[in-house]
Amino acid sequence: MYSVEVQSINKIYETAFRKRRVQALNDFSIKVEKGSIFGLLGPNGAGKTTLVKILLGITFPTTGTATVLGHDISNYKLKSKVGYLPENHKFPPYLNGGDVIKYAASLSGYEPPNLEQKVDELLSLVKMLEWKNMKVKKYSKGMMQRLGLAQAMINDPELVILDEPTDGVDPIGRKEIRDVLIDLKNQGKTIFLNSHLLSEVELITDNVAILNKGNLVHQGNVQELTTSKEKFKIKFASELKEELKSENFNKYQIEQMEEDTVLFKLNDVEELNNLIDDLRKAQLFIVSIEPLKSSLEDMFISLIKNSDK
Ligand SMILES: Nc1ncnc2c1ncn2[C@@H]1O[C@H](COP(=O)(O)OP(=O)(O)OP(=O)(O)O)[C@@H](O)[C@H]1O
Ligand SMILES: [Mg+2]
Repeated sequence: MYSVEVQSINKIYETAFRKRRVQALNDFSIKVEKGSIFGLLGPNGAGKTTLVKILLGITFPTTGTATVLGHDISNYKLKSKVGYLPENHKFPPYLNGGDVIKYAASLSGYEPPNLEQKVDELLSLVKMLEWKNMKVKKYSKGMMQRLGLAQAMINDPELVILDEPTDGVDPIGRKEIRDVLIDLKNQGKTIFLNSHLLSEVELITDNVAILNKGNLVHQGNVQELTTSKEKFKIKFASELKEELKSENFNKYQIEQMEEDTVLFKLNDVEELNNLIDDLRKAQLFIVSIEPLKSSLEDMFISLIKNSDK
């Protein structure tokens, strides 16, 4: 079951008098599984916000279709089941935290039976209850983002769409936001996250799509994306510079050697097994074998570079 399904969306912005055309999305398709945390990643100008705006009916695709929670995006009723935190949002500075949530409630047309209690619940969820009566003009960036997250939850949405929720937030604030998102996932909600903060996304997302200049560069599981299949770090019981120089090992590519640890770059697991056989034949004692994980950031940079070629 998917919460979001996007099919071959193209979005072209045409500026005044058609002097400039920007293809913000190019034949873009993705699927977001219900109950998952999904990260849409991409450099500035990739088209992330454009996609979110299309999903929310704020702007329209030039061609292509999408469904959100099973409804076509042209069906405005679906908005009552979606929560949204816009990029660079601004709340009226003269309101306090509690007022902002009530303001969001009235904008969404949602009237919970006990509004005051609901406001307190949402502020507690994002650890902002103690700042309920402080004017938002005094809030830090992290407090603003957390409040933004709370107001996005006012209608108890099934899907929460967050455009750069941790942008400009310090590491502790980011951790707090991550914890809230995990909490929401555990409540069965689907979270769609736009971000260029990869180390953040890596920690919580189930699946990611990488977007560059409107094109889908990669889509997949974060685990798969960050496990580099070719590099293996093998630790031996002792230092072995000389042994590996023998011609038995010429065929294996050694990327790095440090005392008792050697980093091999191999084609596949079959080659790894051959290597293990050869190492054991040479009576070398293996302590551990570790497939090397590259960070999402490494993968992102190489995928974006390749797609720019
Ligand atoms: N209303 C608009 N009119 C014309 N061009 C636009 C409009 N909105 C966005 N664009 C262009 O579309 C492209 C994608 O923009 P978008 O805001 O979707 O990117 P983004 O991935 O969200 O970037 P960022 O990380 O900076 O938020 C950019 O080239 C941008 O200049
Ligand atoms: Mg954006």
